[in-house]
Amino acid sequence: MNQAALSLLLTRSSCGLLQAPAPSGEALEHILQAGLRAPDHGHLQPFQFLLAEGEGLNRLGALLAESAKQDGAAEEAIERATQMPLRAPLVITVAARVQPHNKVPAFEQHLSAGCAVMAMQMAAQAQGFGGIWRSSPLMYSRKLHELLGLNEQDQIVGFLYLGTPATSLRIPSFVNSAEFVRWI
Ligand SMILES: Cc1cc2nc3c(=O)[nH]c(=O)nc-3n(C[C@H](O)[C@H](O)[C@H](O)COP(=O)(O)O)c2cc1C
Repeated sequence: MNQAALSLLLTRSSCGLLQAPAPSGEALEHILQAGLRAPDHGHLQPFQFLLAEGEGLNRLGALLAESAKQDGAAEEAIERATQMPLRAPLVITVAARVQPHNKVPAFEQHLSAGCAVMAMQMAAQAQGFGGIWRSSPLMYSRKLHELLGLNEQDQIVGFLYLGTPATSLRIPSFVNSAEFVRWI
């Protein structure tokens, strides 16, 4: 049995308080490779990882704010959007690059991209980093998709905030699996 792998699966947890350094170099490449190992029906590789750090975080904030503005958001929400990416030293916007396919509907391609988010979070945790998968109503904004250069059929599935945990990772509490299980 691979105890370390099992332990990572059983203790995966999110960290929202993140500071520099962000994963870089080989550590970042491991994270991206883990994302690319997500299950993928039809080998369509429906993944797009848009990385932002340093000035890129401000650029992402500006795009979020611009889409919020064009979507008619209130001034306060627009200002909040500008600040959103500044909560971590690295933000990966993960989008499903959806391709028309007769056996693989868009939903399955969204699921693949979602699996990539979790795989990348876990690869970060495995290397001593922390992260949190966040969304926002802007995740569904077609305007944001356009500003990020995504195609009409693409779908952002999350913003993965990564960095070094500024607090210790929460130890997940026990959940009784019986409450979620039914044998058929
Ligand atoms: C699709 C998706 C979107 C999420 N969006 C947010 C979010 O915008 N803000 C947030 O605080 N948590 C969000 N979460 C939840 C966190 O990623 C995290 O799972 C939650 O805080 C529980 O912590 P844990 O992962 O350690 O159990 C989202 C999770 C998923 C799967």
